[in-house]
Amino acid sequence: MSMVLVTGGAGFIGANFVHYLRRERPEWTVINLDLLTYAGNPENLAALEGDPGHILTPGDIADRDLVASLFSRHPITKVVHFAAETHVDRSIMDPGVFVRTNVLGTYTLLEAARHAWQGVQGEEPRFLHISTDEVYGSLGPQDPPFTEKTPYAPNSPYAASKAGADFLVRSYFHTYQFPTLITNCSNNYGPFQFPEKLIPFVISQALEGKPVPIYGAGTNIRDWIFVEDHCRAVLLVLEKGRPGETYNLGGRQEKPNLELVRLLLRLLMEMRPDLGNLEELITFVPDRPGHDWRYALSIDKIEGELGWRPQVDLEEGLKRTLSWYLSHPEWLERVRSGAYRDYLQQQYGAAVV
Ligand code: NAD
Ligand code: DAU
Repeated sequence: MSMVLVTGGAGFIGANFVHYLRRERPEWTVINLDLLTYAGNPENLAALEGDPGHILTPGDIADRDLVASLFSRHPITKVVHFAAETHVDRSIMDPGVFVRTNVLGTYTLLEAARHAWQGVQGEEPRFLHISTDEVYGSLGPQDPPFTEKTPYAPNSPYAASKAGADFLVRSYFHTYQFPTLITNCSNNYGPFQFPEKLIPFVISQALEGKPVPIYGAGTNIRDWIFVEDHCRAVLLVLEKGRPGETYNLGGRQEKPNLELVRLLLRLLMEMRPDLGNLEELITFVPDRPGHDWRYALSIDKIEGELGWRPQVDLEEGLKRTLSWYLSHPEWLERVRSGAYRDYLQQQYGAAVV
């Protein structure tokens, strides 16, 4: 019987992970601490209503008293820390909240766990911090993929705030022998992803017959991983990873953005021929400032040490993602609120909204 604190478990990856954990480790109790920002959605957890093994606790990871009280009230022995501000474009508009949540929030959690776990007997505690490949910076076309030894070179306020959090986590292991683990993952996609990120945004725009904006020439490259593969790796690292270590996680599926969007639209047209020629919606718009050109990750370390590799290939993952969005129109309708439309207006201008 373990008690695990999951932060950010009402967001995209966090909610997928909570569902995965309830299936894979039903004997564990999950305390889900989430501020329910625009990206956090209790509807993502609706299937767990009445489940005594899942306790949704609305609240801020940067609220010291709240976090300390969770550790004093519950025998938490594991933390999986997803909570963060996560959208690069929003970090360019307003970096302050990224520093507060991603850096101060992570610090607050680390401190609460460090004090709570001092001298604990019994189950060995573990603190898994979920990070991103963006901390490593950007690659050129011929560069080898990032490894766990690649020096950090974050380029956006989002990436810099995640790098700051990673450094704090690292320092707690070295200074206090606090049992940390870090994973750095590539671009996720799948059910419950908020439609500001490329894949769900393209789906949402295409279903409404609205423009699909591509930054720059669409040549930037990302490595895509289906969220379920990520969840599997997170549980494996939590249970079997070596404290103090970092593990890169990726899908081994690099694609230039324009190619990815064309593939996604083709698959959508196959499923919904009534939508017409969706390629016509592609619209080139000014580039993201400081846009990282390419991310790619070596996953040799986790593959060699823990035997993990991604199982869902891109086309299959995109089909599963499309099926989910097509069968949850009410979810999509509700998240496309007034605040969402205001954000689109500010980011892209009237033509896209
Ligand atoms: P998301 O934006 O969908 O969800 C973030 C969640 O954190 C939301 O539920 C939000 O309400 C919550 N949150 C925000 N501020 C909070 C605060 N102060 N206190 C408590 N909760 C707060 O994010 P995501 O895409 O699911 O990403 C989850 C984690 O994975 C993040 O740490 C992100 O950096 C990392 N990551 C994401 C990707 C990706 O492709 N999405 C890739 C690699 C790593
Ligand atoms: O690499 C992991 C990261 O992936 C995570 O750490 C971040 O939390 C997550 O948001 C994601 O960051 P990206 O910036 O790569 O994802 P995004 O979906 O915003 O954009 C993917 C690519 O598509 C990127 O090159 C920018 C481009 N893009 C994005 C949007 C929203 C467009 O061309 N048009 C768009 O409208």
